[in-house]
Amino acid sequence: MVLTTHHVGIAVSDLDAAVETYARLLEAEVEHRDRLEEQGVDAVSLCAGTGRIELLAPLGAETPVGRFLAKRGPGLHHIAFQVPDVGVELERLRRAGTRLIDETPRRGLFGLEVAFVHPESTGGVLAEFVSDGRT
Ligand code: CO
Repeated sequence: MVLTTHHVGIAVSDLDAAVETYARLLEAEVEHRDRLEEQGVDAVSLCAGTGRIELLAPLGAETPVGRFLAKRGPGLHHIAFQVPDVGVELERLRRAGTRLIDETPRRGLFGLEVAFVHPESTGGVLAEFVSDGRT
């Protein structure tokens, strides 16, 4: 059961410049800043109204976001949907024949529990399912 769109993920090459741009554009407030070494990413989440944007900058060229930037340039990277329980959603999606990137939930940015669904199953947009453990 999807509760809402949790955030839109955007790949950027210069994190500080992007934070400045989005803070100005949307009058958004920085919510979190985090680094996930194992994913090779630096990230900032910004809140604007009831919406949230996640800016992702790679720690190197040979990381998922680094390869994304080299191939497609900065821009929309993924859309995240908030669910009460990521594991339950993965099971539902698996039964429906959805191609999953993560077979089990894992720890994502900002302490969220996450799992990614392959763009092949979602019309070309990488989809993330997240639970913040509070819903
Ligand atoms: Co995300």
